[in-house]
Amino acid sequence: MRKIVIAGNWKMFKTQAESQDFLTGFLPTLEETPPEREVVLCVPYTDLSILSKSLHGSLVQLGAQNVHWAESGAYTGEISGLMLEEIGVRYVIIGHSERRQFFGETDETVNLRLKAAQKYGLTPILCVGETKQQRDAQETESLIIGQLKQGLVDVDQTNLVIAYEPIWAIGTGDTCEAKEANRVIGVIRSQLTNPDVPIQYGGSVKPNNIDEIMAQPEIDGALVGGASLEAADFARIVNYLQ
Ligand code: PGA
Repeated sequence: MRKIVIAGNWKMFKTQAESQDFLTGFLPTLEETPPEREVVLCVPYTDLSILSKSLHGSLVQLGAQNVHWAESGAYTGEISGLMLEEIGVRYVIIGHSERRQFFGETDETVNLRLKAAQKYGLTPILCVGETKQQRDAQETESLIIGQLKQGLVDVDQTNLVIAYEPIWAIGTGDTCEAKEANRVIGVIRSQLTNPDVPIQYGGSVKPNNIDEIMAQPEIDGALVGGASLEAADFARIVNYLQ
């Protein structure tokens, strides 16, 4: 059976104090959460240490938002898998469209980061997805297949999560229709050697659309930006109705 993984992506939001306030509201709501749902919070680097302590013994796994491919070195502004693993990080987002768009991330660097994450026992969440322009030009499938082909060279598919995030749906409130997300995720699965890789949908996931998204047969979870910043909203998302 494929695993369900619901991950919050806090992006560059929340100080340490704010992260603790969030947990005060959020952790008690997990008492209702079915244990087979993996809940992950991918937080800014400065929140990792404190959350590693606060989440100890809870159902929530800790995630980072990037990892460099070297173990250490002269790479100003980067962080290594060794450093993340040491403080109890379990997941790491790789190739988010904001990294690709604003920070020059390519399929080649994505591939290097994926392999580095796995080397340190972290589970990468590989993000793929098309722009509005690419969708309108009927390039969605070919673009995503290309991202997977190059990104997944020599990557172990037994320790991997993929997130389908259409860029036009991120932070816009313009969710991809659940059935269409399900269809594209089916295409993604057809490209994998391991059919059990959990594949999430991401892009304006909210309390009012999560039930429909999770009712789709190919969708194994969600990568949630804006709605993961509010404890009540993220609680409703992880406790989606079946
Ligand atoms: P959003 O972000 O839920 O705010 O659209 C999703 C993401 O960027 O991972």
